[in-house]
Amino acid sequence: MPGKTPILSRRDALVGAAVTLLALQGCSSSHPRLPGYVPPPLDVSGARSLRAQAAAHGLLTGFALSVPLLQDSEPYRRVAREQCSIAVAENTMKWGAIRPTRADFNFDGADAFVQFCESHNIKMRGHNLCWHESLPRWFLDTATPENARALLTEHIRVVAGRYRGRMHSWDVVNEAVWIADGRPDGLRTSPWLKLIGDDYIEVAFRTARQADPAALLTYNEYGLEGESEGDQQKRIATLLLLRRLRQRNVPIDAVGIQSHIKARSLHGYGPSLRSFIQSCKSMDLEVFITELDVDDRELPSDSGHRDAGVAATYADYLQATLAEPNVKAVLTWGVDDAQSWLNQRSRRTDNKPQRPLLFDQDFRPKPAFAAAAAAFAGRSNGRRPQNPHSGSLQDRHSQSL
Ligand code: XIL
Repeated sequence: MPGKTPILSRRDALVGAAVTLLALQGCSSSHPRLPGYVPPPLDVSGARSLRAQAAAHGLLTGFALSVPLLQDSEPYRRVAREQCSIAVAENTMKWGAIRPTRADFNFDGADAFVQFCESHNIKMRGHNLCWHESLPRWFLDTATPENARALLTEHIRVVAGRYRGRMHSWDVVNEAVWIADGRPDGLRTSPWLKLIGDDYIEVAFRTARQADPAALLTYNEYGLEGESEGDQQKRIATLLLLRRLRQRNVPIDAVGIQSHIKARSLHGYGPSLRSFIQSCKSMDLEVFITELDVDDRELPSDSGHRDAGVAATYADYLQATLAEPNVKAVLTWGVDDAQSWLNQRSRRTDNKPQRPLLFDQDFRPKPAFAAAAAAFAGRSNGRRPQNPHSGSLQDRHSQSL
C-alpha cells in the first residue's frame, strides 16, 4: 500500500531471526559438514550449562581461572559462574605467587579466587603445594638440605591451613615423576628431592592432611594420557609411586591426570589410560581430569577444521575417561582460547592463536563445548566395555622394573 512501511512477511521474519541467532552464536566454526563437527548450542546457561549437565551424571566440572581476568572482565566472570561447579586458580596459589619473600605470604590473589568461588557456589581445587616450578628466586638461593624440610612443611601448614575446610581438593605434589632423569624409581630429581630426599612426597602429604583434613589430597601429573611408550613408562612409574605411598599409609585420596592432549596425536588416547584409571580405583583413589586442553598444532590453519578436530579429540578423550566411575571431575586449563597458556607454550607454525578450549576468544561456546556436554550426558547411559587389562597394571609392571 502506498505510503505505508512494508511489514516483514512471516517467512522473512523467521529467516531474519535465524540469521541473528547465527550471528549471536558467532560462526567461528561454520563448517557443519566437517567430521567431528558438533554444532555448539546457542544457549549454554542454566540447565544447558556444563555444570548442570555434569551434575546430572555425577561429575564436577569447571576451569582453571586467572585471577587478574576475574577482576577485569565481566564476560569472563559470567562464563565462570555460569559453567563451573569447581575451579582452580591457574597461577595464584603457586609458590611464585604466594611467597614474595622467605618471611612473607601474599594471599591477595588467592583470597580473591576463594571469595569469587564461594560467592558463586563453586568448589575449589588448590594448586599446588609442592612443585619443581614456580619456586621463587629467594628459595633457589637460600634453600639447603638443612632448612628445606621446614620450608616445605611451614608453607603447607600456612597455605593449606588458611583455607582449611573450604577446599574440595589440593594438588599436594605436582609432577614428581620424570623418567628421563634416570632414577630407578622414576622420580624427578627436583629441588625438593635433592634437598630433602625421596620422602619429600610423603612429608608433603602428611603435612597437608594435618593442615586441612577435609580436602581430598591429590597427586597431579602429566604425560599419562597417551598410548606412546613414554607415556606408558610414566604411568608405570606413577602407579609404583602411588603404591609405595599406599603401603606406607601416606594420606592420599586422588590422582590428577592433567590431560594436556593433542589433536591428531599419533598414538591416540584410550585403552591404556583407562587401565591406569582402573588401577587407581583398585588403590581406592579418585581421579580428576585436572588440566584438559587440546593442542591444535597439527591441525590446518582454518578455524572450522581446527574446531572440528579439537571437538573430536574432546569427544574421544572424555568418552574414554568418563566410562570409568572413579573419574569425578573434569576441568579445562582455561576458559577461552585467547587466554590459553598454549599460546605461549606451544605456538603454531602459522602463528595463529591456538583454539584448545571450550569457548572462543569472544566467549562463544565452540563445537568442543557440545562434545564435552555430549560426553557428560553419555556417561551413565554408556555400557562400559570389558577391559581385559583392568585392575592390575601396577602389579604386572612392577615385576618388569
Ligand atoms: C602453567 C600456567 O598455565 C602458565 O600461565 C604459567 O606460566 C606456567 O604454568 N602443569 C601445571 C600447571 O601443573 O600449573 C601449568 O600452568 C601447566 C602445566
